[in-house]
Amino acid sequence: MTKLWLCAALMLALAPLGEGQELAATPPMGWNSWNHFACKVTAGDIRAAADAMASNGMKEAGYTYVNIDDCWQGKRDAQGNLHPNARFGDIKALVDYVHSKGLKIGIYSSPGPQTCAHHEGSYQHEAQDAKQYAAWGIDYLKYDWCSASQVYKPSQMPEVYKKMHEALAATGRPIVYSLCQYGMERVWQWGPGVGGNLWRTTGDISDHYDRMALIGFQQNGLQSFAGPGHWNDPDMLEVGNGGMGHDEYITHMSLWAMLAAPLLAGNDLSKMSAADLAILTNKEVIFVDQDAKGVQGHRVAQQGPLEVWAKPLADGSYGVGLFNRSESPAPVTLELKDIGISGSAQIRDLWAHRDLGSFTGSYTVTVAKHGAALLKVK
Ligand code: GLA
Repeated sequence: MTKLWLCAALMLALAPLGEGQELAATPPMGWNSWNHFACKVTAGDIRAAADAMASNGMKEAGYTYVNIDDCWQGKRDAQGNLHPNARFGDIKALVDYVHSKGLKIGIYSSPGPQTCAHHEGSYQHEAQDAKQYAAWGIDYLKYDWCSASQVYKPSQMPEVYKKMHEALAATGRPIVYSLCQYGMERVWQWGPGVGGNLWRTTGDISDHYDRMALIGFQQNGLQSFAGPGHWNDPDMLEVGNGGMGHDEYITHMSLWAMLAAPLLAGNDLSKMSAADLAILTNKEVIFVDQDAKGVQGHRVAQQGPLEVWAKPLADGSYGVGLFNRSESPAPVTLELKDIGISGSAQIRDLWAHRDLGSFTGSYTVTVAKHGAALLKVK
């Protein structure tokens, strides 16, 4: 009997993902250690993030992956097996802990000899490392170009990324594959073909409005490359890290939702304000990001620093973002014809959780400096 059960469980675990079970069918949601902890990260920080995510409403809102970024690595042994450093100790125990919270866990490496923070990369150890991740129970890999530029030509990127995809696939474990090479070589064109579930489209974000806005708004034009299972990644969230004001974080979260971007929180989840938690867990905003149609939004109108973005949703309605990139409050207008509506439309404010009523022709609202309004328009 036990044998039968074991056999069934094994078959289930090894079965190819069926229809509707595609990896990253909606943009991955979770947390990553880099933006807040950088190279000081410890296993304790990862456990604390999992504890917080499982108990503060984030898990219910859809956050799933707890991702270790750079700086977990120690040395390779005589057999070439990579061991964690002393701050991490036992990765399997950490994985089991995160899994015990009903969450998934990610890890980080580079196709080069060294990662960006000069730790051991996976160069010439691809299959061995992939097997190790699977044996630990890892669910997500961020694979960061870094020193690969010293051993490969840029034109080799697709084959280099494909090599790790094949190594991961050979383990039989579903592992979300995150390509990180800062948008070089028009990765959005070949990312899906090499098994990427998401790919960074830009250099690193920082916790400043100008940098976040530059990265986010420049995603316009890439919308045709995103879809279920394969997403443009304008980098992780900075909400809660303290470098931006409330309205700026509202813009950050609204824009990432409009972009169907991966939502990977990057703050210290164990010490966050109620206001930042409310931004990260607004279910109506997350709903726009996670909509099953999987269409990335784009800009439909612009008047200088005032921008209107739209994202078609599965139920036939639109997510609409009204953004004010200027230095003072300003009225921003949605012309309904810009989203193909000729009659009247019902509009709901997703940050206020309030139905605004029926509008004909246009809708105008005053938006704070560096702020945003996020609407559902039917
Ligand atoms: C690069 C990546 C970052 C982070 C660091 C780690 O800069 O773009 O997201 O992973 O490396 O060293």
